This record gives sequence, C-alpha cells and structure tokens, in this order.
Amino acid sequence: MATLSDKRQFLGGQLFGSTYIPKDADLSGKTIIVTGANTGIGLECAKHLARLNVATLILGCRSLQKGNSARDIIIRDTGCKTTTIEAWELDLASHQSVLAFAKRVRTSLSRLDAFIANAGVRLMEFTLAEGIETTITVNVISNMLLNIGVLPKLRETSVKYGIPTTLSVVGSMMHIFGPPESMAPPSKGKDTFDLLSDPSTADMGPRYSLSKTLIHALLAEFATVASRPGKHEQVIVNWVNPGWCASDLDRHKKAPPLIQRFAFAVMGRTAEEGSHTLVHAVVAGKQTHGCYLSECRPKPESEFLRSKEGVEARERLFQELMVRIGKISPETAGFIE
Ligand SMILES: NC(=O)c1ccc[n+]([C@@H]2O[C@H](COP(=O)([O-])OP(=O)(O)OC[C@H]3O[C@@H](n4cnc5c(N)ncnc54)[C@H](OP(=O)(O)O)[C@@H]3O)[C@@H](O)[C@H]2O)c1
Repeated sequence: MATLSDKRQFLGGQLFGSTYIPKDADLSGKTIIVTGANTGIGLECAKHLARLNVATLILGCRSLQKGNSARDIIIRDTGCKTTTIEAWELDLASHQSVLAFAKRVRTSLSRLDAFIANAGVRLMEFTLAEGIETTITVNVISNMLLNIGVLPKLRETSVKYGIPTTLSVVGSMMHIFGPPESMAPPSKGKDTFDLLSDPSTADMGPRYSLSKTLIHALLAEFATVASRPGKHEQVIVNWVNPGWCASDLDRHKKAPPLIQRFAFAVMGRTAEEGSHTLVHAVVAGKQTHGCYLSECRPKPESEFLRSKEGVEARERLFQELMVRIGKISPETAGFIE
C-alpha cells in the first residue's frame, strides 16, 4: 500500500505544484493523436494542441458523434484555421476496434509526431470485456495493444524526419494505491490479468488505482524497447499524472462524501489545468524518456514500483502482456523485438 513518502509526494504535488503550457511551443506541421478526446482532460488537451498550430489532430473516440461534436467545440473555442481535425472511432473495450485503429494509423497517415493515450475508465461494478475485467482491458491491455500498434508509425516518422517522436500515456498519482499483492506471481497456468478477472475474488475498490499501477509498470519496460538500437529512430516514451481534476471520470461513482468535496475545493484542478501536463509531456523532449511526469516535471513513482519486488513484477508483467498480445495479434507482438 501507499507509504508515507508516496502520500507526501502525491499531496505535495497536488497542493503546491502547478501546471503550465511550455512557452514557445509550436506544433506547426505535426500530426498528433489524442484518445478519449471528446471530453475532460483529453478535450482540453486537444484544444491546446490546436492553439499551438498542430497541423493534423486526430481525436480517438468511442462514439463518432461525440468525436465530431468535440471537433466543432475545438474549432469554436480556439478559432483554429490551420489545423485539420478528424474524429476516428476507437473502443478500447474491443481488441478488434483497437487493431483497426492502429492499422489505420500505420497505413493512412503520412506521419505521426505524438500519440497521447489519454482514454481511461473508472468503474465500480465488475464486468468483463474481451474475457478480462473491463477496467484492466481498457486502461491496461488495450491501452498497450494500441501503444505497440502505433509504434511503427512513430519510429518511421522519427527516421524520415530525423526528429524524436513521442508516446505519452496518461497515468495517475493514484498508482500509489494499487495493492502490490495483486501483482504477486500468479500460478496454475493463469497470468496476472486472468487472476484479476475472477468475479469471486476481484476487489473493485482499488481497481482503478491498480490499473494505473499496472500501466506505469508496463510503460517502464516498454520504454526500454520502443527505439531499436542502431536504427536511427528515437521514440520518447513518458507517462503523465494530470492531477486530481474535475471531469466525467467519476460518472460511475456515487456522489462523493462532503469531506472529499471539501478536499477537491482545496486542491482540485480543472480539466484545463490538468491538460497542460499532457501538452508538456509531448514537447518536453528526450530528457523525459522513461520518466513519470507530474506537475510538468519528472517525479519518483511509488516506493513499491521502485523496489526490487516492483522491478521484478514489472518485468514479469511485461512478459505476460506480450504473451497475451501475441495471442490477440501476432503482427502487433512482432513490433517489439
Ligand atoms: N480526472 C482525474 O482526476 C484524473 C486523475 C489522474 C488521471 N486521470 C486520467 O486522465 C485520463 C482522462 O480522464 P478524464 O478525467 O478526462 O475522464 P473523462 O472525462 O471520463 O474522459 C475519459 C475519456 O476516455 C474515454 N473512454 C472511456 N472508455 C473508453 C473506451 N472503452 N474506448 C475509448 N475511449 C474510452 C471517454 O469516452 P466516453 O466519453 O465515450 O466515455 C472519455 O473520452 C484517464 O486516463 C484518467 O484515468 C484522471
């Protein structure tokens, strides 16, 4: 569970840290994708990218209708004239949808400068998607299936233009609350994801936090293989905590108790303030490769993820993930050598 030092990091950042859009950032000529861009932090991030003159902005949304409305809102709120904005369908609860989206990225875009994996859910009820508990499917497995699926286009753009490209994934300070015992080595031929999908033992209370612990753990490993030695490509992988923000994330939760509403009034951020951290992550550059970013700077992750057990767990989890991805799509698994 979260240590005192973890909680101090979290509260200190949320209470006293600030977020900002980097000065002089200019995204002219670039192509950027944001998933979950129809509302909340993703929508605010997309507006900032348009203000920074991004040439092509793709909104990955599970409803095309919501995606097209978001495009209209971005144009209305930013007055952008030089950005081409398209909504593309993406449902992270379906592997087939994820694979189709990634293939469209690889085959129809001439370049991809940055991919912002923002979409995520916080569910309180146990349900299954693709045979795995839905939070884990959406926030972890499909998220990684997509990140790996777009990797060839990020590598290709990096080589073609001689620039680093960026993959930024929205994590959370809540990763400190993921129970480490849920990442203990599994047995009886089942992997960690299977074990978390047993309705008789699944604990949905910390499930969202655990999904963020898992994605942080997997990204640390993914960062080490994103660029291949000797290939002249540089794909920066970082993961970001936007902070505790007002958004639709808690739509499946009951109204929060008074104490939580008071805490939010004291330290909460708007989705717009939180979205600065995503923009920062895509322009922050090479020194943020392999880093967890919070309050627009690299920060230490939970003590567990930095411990010997945490490092062992993340290596094993990545192997388990790759076996699973190999079964879902051997082609995608082949992008990681
Ligand atoms: N808000 C916070 O305090 C906070 C703190 C730390 C991290 N985060 C993270 O920030 C990211 C954005 O969250 P938010 O706070 O902006 O929440 P939000 O307002 O609920 O936005 C979440 C976005 O993800 C999309 N999404 C959900 N399930 C999806 C699926 N199966 N396939 C494709 N898209 C899906 C949603 O689409 P629909 O509108 O169609 O549902 C929506 O566009 C998430 O990764 C979240 O975990 C949030």
